[in-house]
Amino acid sequence: MWFLLISIFICCSILKYFQKLNYWRSHGVKNISFIRLISNVLKRQMGVALGDIYQQLYEEKEPFKVALSPFLTVLILQDMESIKDVMIKQFENFPERGFYTNHRDPLNTNLIRLEYEWWRPLRQKLTPVFSPAKMQAIFPTLLKVTELFASKVKTTMEEEENGELAIYDLCARFTTDVVGSVAFGIEFNSLEDPNSQARRQGLKIFDYVWHPILDSLAGHYRAVKNFFNIKLFKPEISGFFRKLVSNIIEYRQKNGIRREDLMDTLIELKQHDERSKQEFALSLELIVGQVFGFFGAGFETSSNTLTYVLYELARHPEIQEKARENVKEVLKNHGNEFTYENIREMQYLKQVINETLRLHPPAPYTVRVCRQPCSLTTKRGSLKIPLGTKVMIPIYGIHHNPQYYPQPHLFRPERFDANMELGCKFPSCAYMPFGLGPRICIGERLAKMLLTLSLAMLLQRYRFSCCPATPKELHFDPRKMLVLSSKEKIVLKVETV
Ligand code: HEM
Repeated sequence: MWFLLISIFICCSILKYFQKLNYWRSHGVKNISFIRLISNVLKRQMGVALGDIYQQLYEEKEPFKVALSPFLTVLILQDMESIKDVMIKQFENFPERGFYTNHRDPLNTNLIRLEYEWWRPLRQKLTPVFSPAKMQAIFPTLLKVTELFASKVKTTMEEEENGELAIYDLCARFTTDVVGSVAFGIEFNSLEDPNSQARRQGLKIFDYVWHPILDSLAGHYRAVKNFFNIKLFKPEISGFFRKLVSNIIEYRQKNGIRREDLMDTLIELKQHDERSKQEFALSLELIVGQVFGFFGAGFETSSNTLTYVLYELARHPEIQEKARENVKEVLKNHGNEFTYENIREMQYLKQVINETLRLHPPAPYTVRVCRQPCSLTTKRGSLKIPLGTKVMIPIYGIHHNPQYYPQPHLFRPERFDANMELGCKFPSCAYMPFGLGPRICIGERLAKMLLTLSLAMLLQRYRFSCCPATPKELHFDPRKMLVLSSKEKIVLKVETV
């Protein structure tokens, strides 16, 4: 009996595979074997591997390539018009990333993973949490954590031989404290004590039950996984996070405490929804999910960006000097104080950050899943996209396309200077470190504010340079599929200015 069932299953799978293959071939779409794609991705970081495929497609003037398995179809996009279609114009047809969401596990129900029906009202509710006014309100708290970070750099530098620091570790402790404390009122104290219990517990949020490759592959079998109540995170992690957040909310509500952070806004939204008996109310579970999601999406992306900016500045001392002059100039005009307004005037520093995000985009690709069969139009004609097709947008590849960015491997902040001859000559959609369209990164403003402030303060006080332990070039860890994370330790020499 089992033998018969398994044989039928195998035959159906093979049939399905060949049906798909015929479909895509008859529409002139080249295919890459799924096994080859997976083996590439196991050897090279996923975003970089997709970037190579993108570049090959660009040179061959092929709009797409498809990777087929009986159960999953992955379409890698090269054509810029199709990318705009998927992410902006036809968003309603591609509104999700295709992750599995188990609504019985609050950690799953975050903005990144949620399906469209839940995501839409939630995104509407959460957008004001990251408004310019809120960013201005949290600035003083951010400033305090940044001051602590800058002084920690000094003490660590004095402790280390020759002032050579493994810079990622400090940046990661800083962004843990910023995203935890400034944003959500969770005190990790990791700058003070890297082994604090809160930090060790907090970092467990990255302990997935499954490997992320399985998570993204099997994302669209939601019904089956929901039926078996399959959880993505270990129950003790869900429990830990739920307790942590509910204690904070309860404590603040009971004692009428406000900290002018993003958690205040989430609590206000929850209270408002309870009073007005909204159909889609922000519950404790949803808040837990969002805090978890913001932390997961914000921590590694920001700490890696900060590290890569310092690395590029150490490798380009003349650019570092120019950025320092820019910071000093702006500060001089504002009584030597860092404010929400004046860091926005640091135009050259902004270009340095933008160029780093182009060269080393910490989120090197993004994904959308086709929820309604529809057509994409390319120069080669129209192509029907079947339901469930997973569409990959190779951010890293687009950012390294020499057509848009001449000599793409060089670090040149002038690319983002509209006044320069070479500046801003790329199409606007060819730059997307924070994604594009309605599902663009919600934390972009917070990320830019924390990067600009921390870099301005570090440049004001310290000089960064390469030392023998500094890697000559960066290689990215294939085990970290979702973020661009350096394989090598990034060690820099730090001196006071
Ligand atoms: C340098 C730092 C950051 C980078 C480069 C970055 C990049 C991205 C990218 C590429 C996406 C996918 C967008 C798309 O699919 O179109 C994304 C989504 C997201 N990011 Fe960020 N991010 C950063 C920091 C943050 C921070 C600090 C937070 C929150 C505190 C955050 C929260 C989110 C969330 C919640 C989403 C999902 C949005 C949605 O689906 O509606 N990110 N981010």
